[in-house]
Amino acid sequence: MKPLNIIGISGSLRSASLNTKLLRQAISKEVPELTITEYPLKDIPLFNGDLESDGDPEQIRDFKEAIQKSDGVLIVTPEYHQGIPGVLKNALDWAGSDANENMLNGHFAGVIGATPTNGGTAGAQQQVISTLKAAGATVMEHSSLKVAKAPDKFEENGQLQDKETDEALISYLNTFADWLRKKI
Ligand code: FNR
Repeated sequence: MKPLNIIGISGSLRSASLNTKLLRQAISKEVPELTITEYPLKDIPLFNGDLESDGDPEQIRDFKEAIQKSDGVLIVTPEYHQGIPGVLKNALDWAGSDANENMLNGHFAGVIGATPTNGGTAGAQQQVISTLKAAGATVMEHSSLKVAKAPDKFEENGQLQDKETDEALISYLNTFADWLRKKI
């Protein structure tokens, strides 16, 4: 069977981002059911409804097309003030706007995240899930991955050195693949 095509989105623009490291580790895992491609948010403009009136800006057309062509979206979210970072919310608002085509409506998503604190991004993940659902997406909620104390878990080169987290990531990806196969 052809692997599922997944768009992976890190909600951080930081070059040393823990969440981008987690996404890249997900990409590197040999889960034959999934091919994950990173979609960086660095070129996504700030949402402005005026910019939608003559069709979406080019970067947004590209972003939406990537979502449309995918079988699912994997969001890797940081947590800011116990919630969703603005960079990620901005991108999801573009993708899920009804003005042109809402690409999140009817689409499928999973949400994971990493933080240096003990919390594991629970607050952010809840807000990301709410946003996705409000836009009409179906989110895998029976399984999640919340990586707490993340700086201890990665090597300098971004490799996961914590065996438990590594196994939890692989398990999450397999669960996501099984769930997607049943949905699409
Ligand atoms: C944070 N951080 C944070 N962490 C957390 O677990 N809960 C929180 O509520 C917050 N709040 C918060 C607010 C702001 C404005 C910043 C800048 C940071 C810490 C955050 O998890 C940490 O900076 C991560 O490293 C950010 O993710 P990336 O960039 O490493 O992926």
